[in-house]
Amino acid sequence: MSDSTGNIISGTEFSAKLRATIKHKVTILKENYSIVPGLAVVLVGDDPASQIYVRNKGKQTLEAGMKSVEHKLAEDTKEEDLLEVIKELNNDNTIHGILVQLPLPAHIDEERVINSISVEKDVDGFHLTNIGLLSTGSDKAVIPCTPLGSIMMLKDRLGSLSGKKAIVVGRSNIVGKPMAALLLKESCTVTIAHSRTKNLKEECQKADILVAAVGRPEMIKGDWIKPGAVVLDVGINRIEKEGGGTRLVGDVEFSSASKVASAITPVPGGVGPMTIACLLENTLQQACRINNIESSEL
Ligand SMILES: NC(=O)c1ccc[n+]([C@@H]2O[C@H](COP(=O)([O-])OP(=O)(O)OC[C@H]3O[C@@H](n4cnc5c(N)ncnc54)[C@H](OP(=O)(O)O)[C@@H]3O)[C@@H](O)[C@H]2O)c1
Repeated sequence: MSDSTGNIISGTEFSAKLRATIKHKVTILKENYSIVPGLAVVLVGDDPASQIYVRNKGKQTLEAGMKSVEHKLAEDTKEEDLLEVIKELNNDNTIHGILVQLPLPAHIDEERVINSISVEKDVDGFHLTNIGLLSTGSDKAVIPCTPLGSIMMLKDRLGSLSGKKAIVVGRSNIVGKPMAALLLKESCTVTIAHSRTKNLKEECQKADILVAAVGRPEMIKGDWIKPGAVVLDVGINRIEKEGGGTRLVGDVEFSSASKVASAITPVPGGVGPMTIACLLENTLQQACRINNIESSEL
């Protein structure tokens, strides 16, 4: 699915192709098996950023030909009532993916809620069983969307990753750790760095693959990068623009890093657009799995 020009890996182009493939497979699933993959998104409260994410997810789900369901619950919803909504979705045969938009209000136990989602409908891949399956290298794991999109773009660019030295800067449960697990599964030699890592610049300079998931604007400079390395910048940071307004930048200083790297994702337009596309991919995969259909045959 090579899609990018020069040393830029375009997530915008890659995700558009992935969504087109998903849409095509959804059509076949409908025609041959009378199955319409269904994704339910549950939003508690009225955080404006979360509302935008949920709206975009719903729009792209429908564009892929899937069923989209949204449950918008009040900020003061009781945990038990939220669990009841999830229980109903777990039992709904027309729903193959359930996503609870995070963060949840402080009075709700996030871990309890996530782990109440049926493992096979956990399209975010945050359920403890899916985390465990990923860490054992099982093909049955549902993989969190941002790392999944990142590894897809890496494999598309590099082919085999076997034997390559990779560093993941950031150890969050949603990006850093699953990304490291995926790189290990691809037989990379993986370093996981974080805020206590000593000599971070030197550690980065050793890596053939650098994944930045830190949340610090342009922290990683060009001279931190091994010449010819592939750089995936997961960070999304909004900074002040000279002359007013704001703009988005990654965790990597693109201007200097793009002169050294053999390939690099920009921000915006890099890893970001892959996240929702991979949510649709996970929903399609789980619709197939739940119905014992081999998705590779679609
Ligand atoms: N593209 C997407 O769709 C997408 C999805 C998710 C996140 N993101 C973006 O990715 C970035 C990371 O997100 P996240 O949820 O993983 O963040 P997070 O939970 O805040 O984790 C940040 C990680 O970076 C480490 N860190 C912080 N400062 C550091 C430093 N100076 N040197 C080395 N490591 C440092 C932290 O180390 P400690 O563990 O030691 O504190 C932590 O492990 C954010 O910009 C976020 O917006 C993008």
